[in-house]
Amino acid sequence: MKIIKIKEINKFENKLVRINGWVYNSRRSGKIGFLTVRDGFGLIQCVVVKDDIGDESFESFKRLTQESSITVIGKVVKNDRAIGKYEILVDSYELHHLSQDYPITPKEHGTEYLMANRHLWLRSKRQHAILRVRHEIVKSIRDFFDMNDFTLVDTPIFTPNAAEGTSTLFRTEYFGKEAFLAQTGQLYGEASAMAFGRHYNFGPCFRAEKSKTRRHLTEFWMVEPEIAYCDIEEDMMWAENLLIYIVQQVIKNKSNELNILERDIDVLKKVAGPFPRVSYTDCIEILNKADFNIKWGEDFGSPEETYIANQYDSPVIVHRFPSKIKAFYMKRDPENEKVVLGMDILAPEGYGEIVGGSERETNIDILIDRIDEEKLNKSDYDWFLDLRRYGSVPHSGFGMGLERVVAWVCGLSHIRETIPFARTMSRLNP
Ligand code: 4AD
Ligand code: MG
Repeated sequence: MKIIKIKEINKFENKLVRINGWVYNSRRSGKIGFLTVRDGFGLIQCVVVKDDIGDESFESFKRLTQESSITVIGKVVKNDRAIGKYEILVDSYELHHLSQDYPITPKEHGTEYLMANRHLWLRSKRQHAILRVRHEIVKSIRDFFDMNDFTLVDTPIFTPNAAEGTSTLFRTEYFGKEAFLAQTGQLYGEASAMAFGRHYNFGPCFRAEKSKTRRHLTEFWMVEPEIAYCDIEEDMMWAENLLIYIVQQVIKNKSNELNILERDIDVLKKVAGPFPRVSYTDCIEILNKADFNIKWGEDFGSPEETYIANQYDSPVIVHRFPSKIKAFYMKRDPENEKVVLGMDILAPEGYGEIVGGSERETNIDILIDRIDEEKLNKSDYDWFLDLRRYGSVPHSGFGMGLERVVAWVCGLSHIRETIPFARTMSRLNP
């Protein structure tokens, strides 16, 4: 008899099968018992009839607890009212381990309690659905770049230098020297783009975010393409196409999970190109008309981002920010020295910035000035400046925060549920 996965149950109608799994919940009414079993691939209702399995088995069935591990043997039958439209008429079952006092019961628990039990919370339906959507998003990102001839080149996590400002660096001792955990792989991505033309890196990034917000993790995943012979306009196009592809793939392949999360799929279906493109300067005007009282040169906070994003159904691209509030490597706009050719993409529905990118400064003298201005240690960047000494070309790239995209696509109110084991200022455990 075949061990099957619950997700392929429809291929086994009227057949006898075995399922390896865990008890999700159980209830009884008289001589009939109902067992919901999960196997990691899905959930299925199993019907246990006293007269079919015998008194002794029925008595031990009554003692089965939530999360006990079991193998169920029985016949697959159609039942339109059951989850997944099939159920199993149980012939017999084998108990592997009786779970006792499982800490997460069907009653409501507070989020702190659930986060402290994250290693177990992953088994519940909603968390399972979120991480399956995350998986789909990771896959679609890789497929998108693979289909477009980008080469995955991994960038290091121990680094000697800062790229995204010194205030969020995690420092660590490195054989008597100081090293930092990578905030971004970008500088290495630029080296790789000069070797491969189209590069991407995808991995964990670290930022000592001292603010407790719904959008910040201290360890998060970022995907960063870097493209040679590419200007800011083409850069925006790549980011837009990537986001559209991700949303389409999730709608196509993870509609079950979106339903479990009660995500309004119609809202996601409205995501279409071209995304609106609005300059920072125009945003300041829009915000001041709406009584925000923000001065040119100031950075947006989340209320400002939300207001701008709420004007549109699709993500919006904000470009040409004041150079003072952006990283040293962004290229100045030749038409206006005060702004850089940088862009942020803001997600709809108040999810804020999901992408940040720019055309890169190619002029070595301007770069050296910017490194001085930011009081960065020039010798740490000497290798990076080599990229402007040997065959420098216009190039651009961006970083997309995986967890922010997962939160938006799933419609979650907090980023902590988008990553298997969240790291925040107040959490390093489990
Ligand atoms: O805008 P950021 O800081 O850009 C960079 O790091 C560039 N070097 C990327 C590049 O051009 N190659 O970060 C990019 C994205 C943000 O838009 C956001 O989605 C995400 O990374 N991000 C975070 N996500 C979760 N928690 C945090 N603390 C994050 N910080 C940034
Ligand atoms: Mg940014």
